[in-house]
Amino acid sequence: MTYNIALLPGDGIGPEVVTEAVKVLETVGEKFSHTFNFSTYLLGGCATDKYGVPYPEETAKGCKASDAVLLGAVGGPKWDQLPVHQRPEQGLLAIRSDLELFANLRPAALRPALKDACPLREATADRGFDIMIVRELTGGIYFGKRNRYEDPEKGVVASDLMEYSEKEIERIGRRAFELAALRRKKVTNVDKANVLETSRLWRSVMHRLSEENPDIEYQDMYVDNAAMQIVRDPAAFDVIVTENMFGDILSDEASMITGSIGLLPSASIGSGAPALYEPIHGSAPDIAGQGIANPIATILSAAMLLRYSFKLGAEADAIEAAVDKALNEGYRTPDMSGGVKKVSTVEMGEIIRKNI
Ligand code: NAD
Ligand code: IPM
Ligand code: MN
Repeated sequence: MTYNIALLPGDGIGPEVVTEAVKVLETVGEKFSHTFNFSTYLLGGCATDKYGVPYPEETAKGCKASDAVLLGAVGGPKWDQLPVHQRPEQGLLAIRSDLELFANLRPAALRPALKDACPLREATADRGFDIMIVRELTGGIYFGKRNRYEDPEKGVVASDLMEYSEKEIERIGRRAFELAALRRKKVTNVDKANVLETSRLWRSVMHRLSEENPDIEYQDMYVDNAAMQIVRDPAAFDVIVTENMFGDILSDEASMITGSIGLLPSASIGSGAPALYEPIHGSAPDIAGQGIANPIATILSAAMLLRYSFKLGAEADAIEAAVDKALNEGYRTPDMSGGVKKVSTVEMGEIIRKNI
């Protein structure tokens, strides 16, 4: 089979980690007799540099014509002072919205080889955990009206509107229950219904979905408590469903207890093709260009791409097994503690490819 993949390397470490993921996909292609055609487009700061906007028309067209999209990361200090419409992050929000990628699946599981890299107490790490964070990705405070004005008495005032509709909540909720049905059959709804009206609506929709899914265990949890419970007893979670910003924050927290933010992949999925696959981490300007970024989050994002968009389960399994083998053998990029041998981005990519 032939598959067309649009690549968006982006900024900072983005190109470094995407390069390794592409090489891994090429190895999988050879092993399993698939042809992956790659087309590269600009997104983020690099696009603003060339076109004056972070999500150019050419990128939109190319991604829409592809079967799936693989993204590195965008952003960096170089672009932080630009007006909103030229900021790299705005490009990321624009593509998620344009492709209607409302469901962002962020799996945070402790790989057995990384027990020694987990910062939690040994007994907790020994029990392991496997959480699927289902983050709403095209609504809420990320996409509400923003305002900034000068008030004669208060000085400058700014606001960001958080808005959710019943329909938006229902479609992400359904994804969470569907996923839970294929896993350990438990949904934890995370919100701030003791304060926010959007959360009260969110919770009432989740309760309705819970009634429709009596075989799925269901609980509500306030987001502040959830942030605490994730480090106290991560094994208690199966699927977490939550709004855009809470999901952003909790997934960075969850990534660290798996050993490093450099490990966590994600799939951003809508109703139709193409979906977009992205590590949860950013462009890591502090280490960009040094050749030490962890490519595993992007390589595992490529595995999710094969599994979800192309239904190539065996091929995705092969990538995940190759990653586990590299970790079991003690190879670590510098962001992960433990192990026996520190390796570079390219070396880690090579080792994973050899294991396929
Ligand atoms: P970040 O995720 O880029 O980095 C946070 C810390 O984690 C840094 O110390 C970094 O070195 C480390 N880190 C991240 N990924 C790593 C990897 N693969 N290997 C090793 N270490 C890794 O978050 P930040 O510093 O808050 O943001 C930097 C820039 O990235 C900002 O411009 C931000 O807007 C952007 N950002 C983009 C995305 C995205 O494109 N999806 C996500 C988050 C942040
Ligand atoms: C992420 C990032 C983005 C987000 C930023 C860069 C817009 O933090 O993908 O987690 O907040 O969604
Ligand atoms: Mn984030």
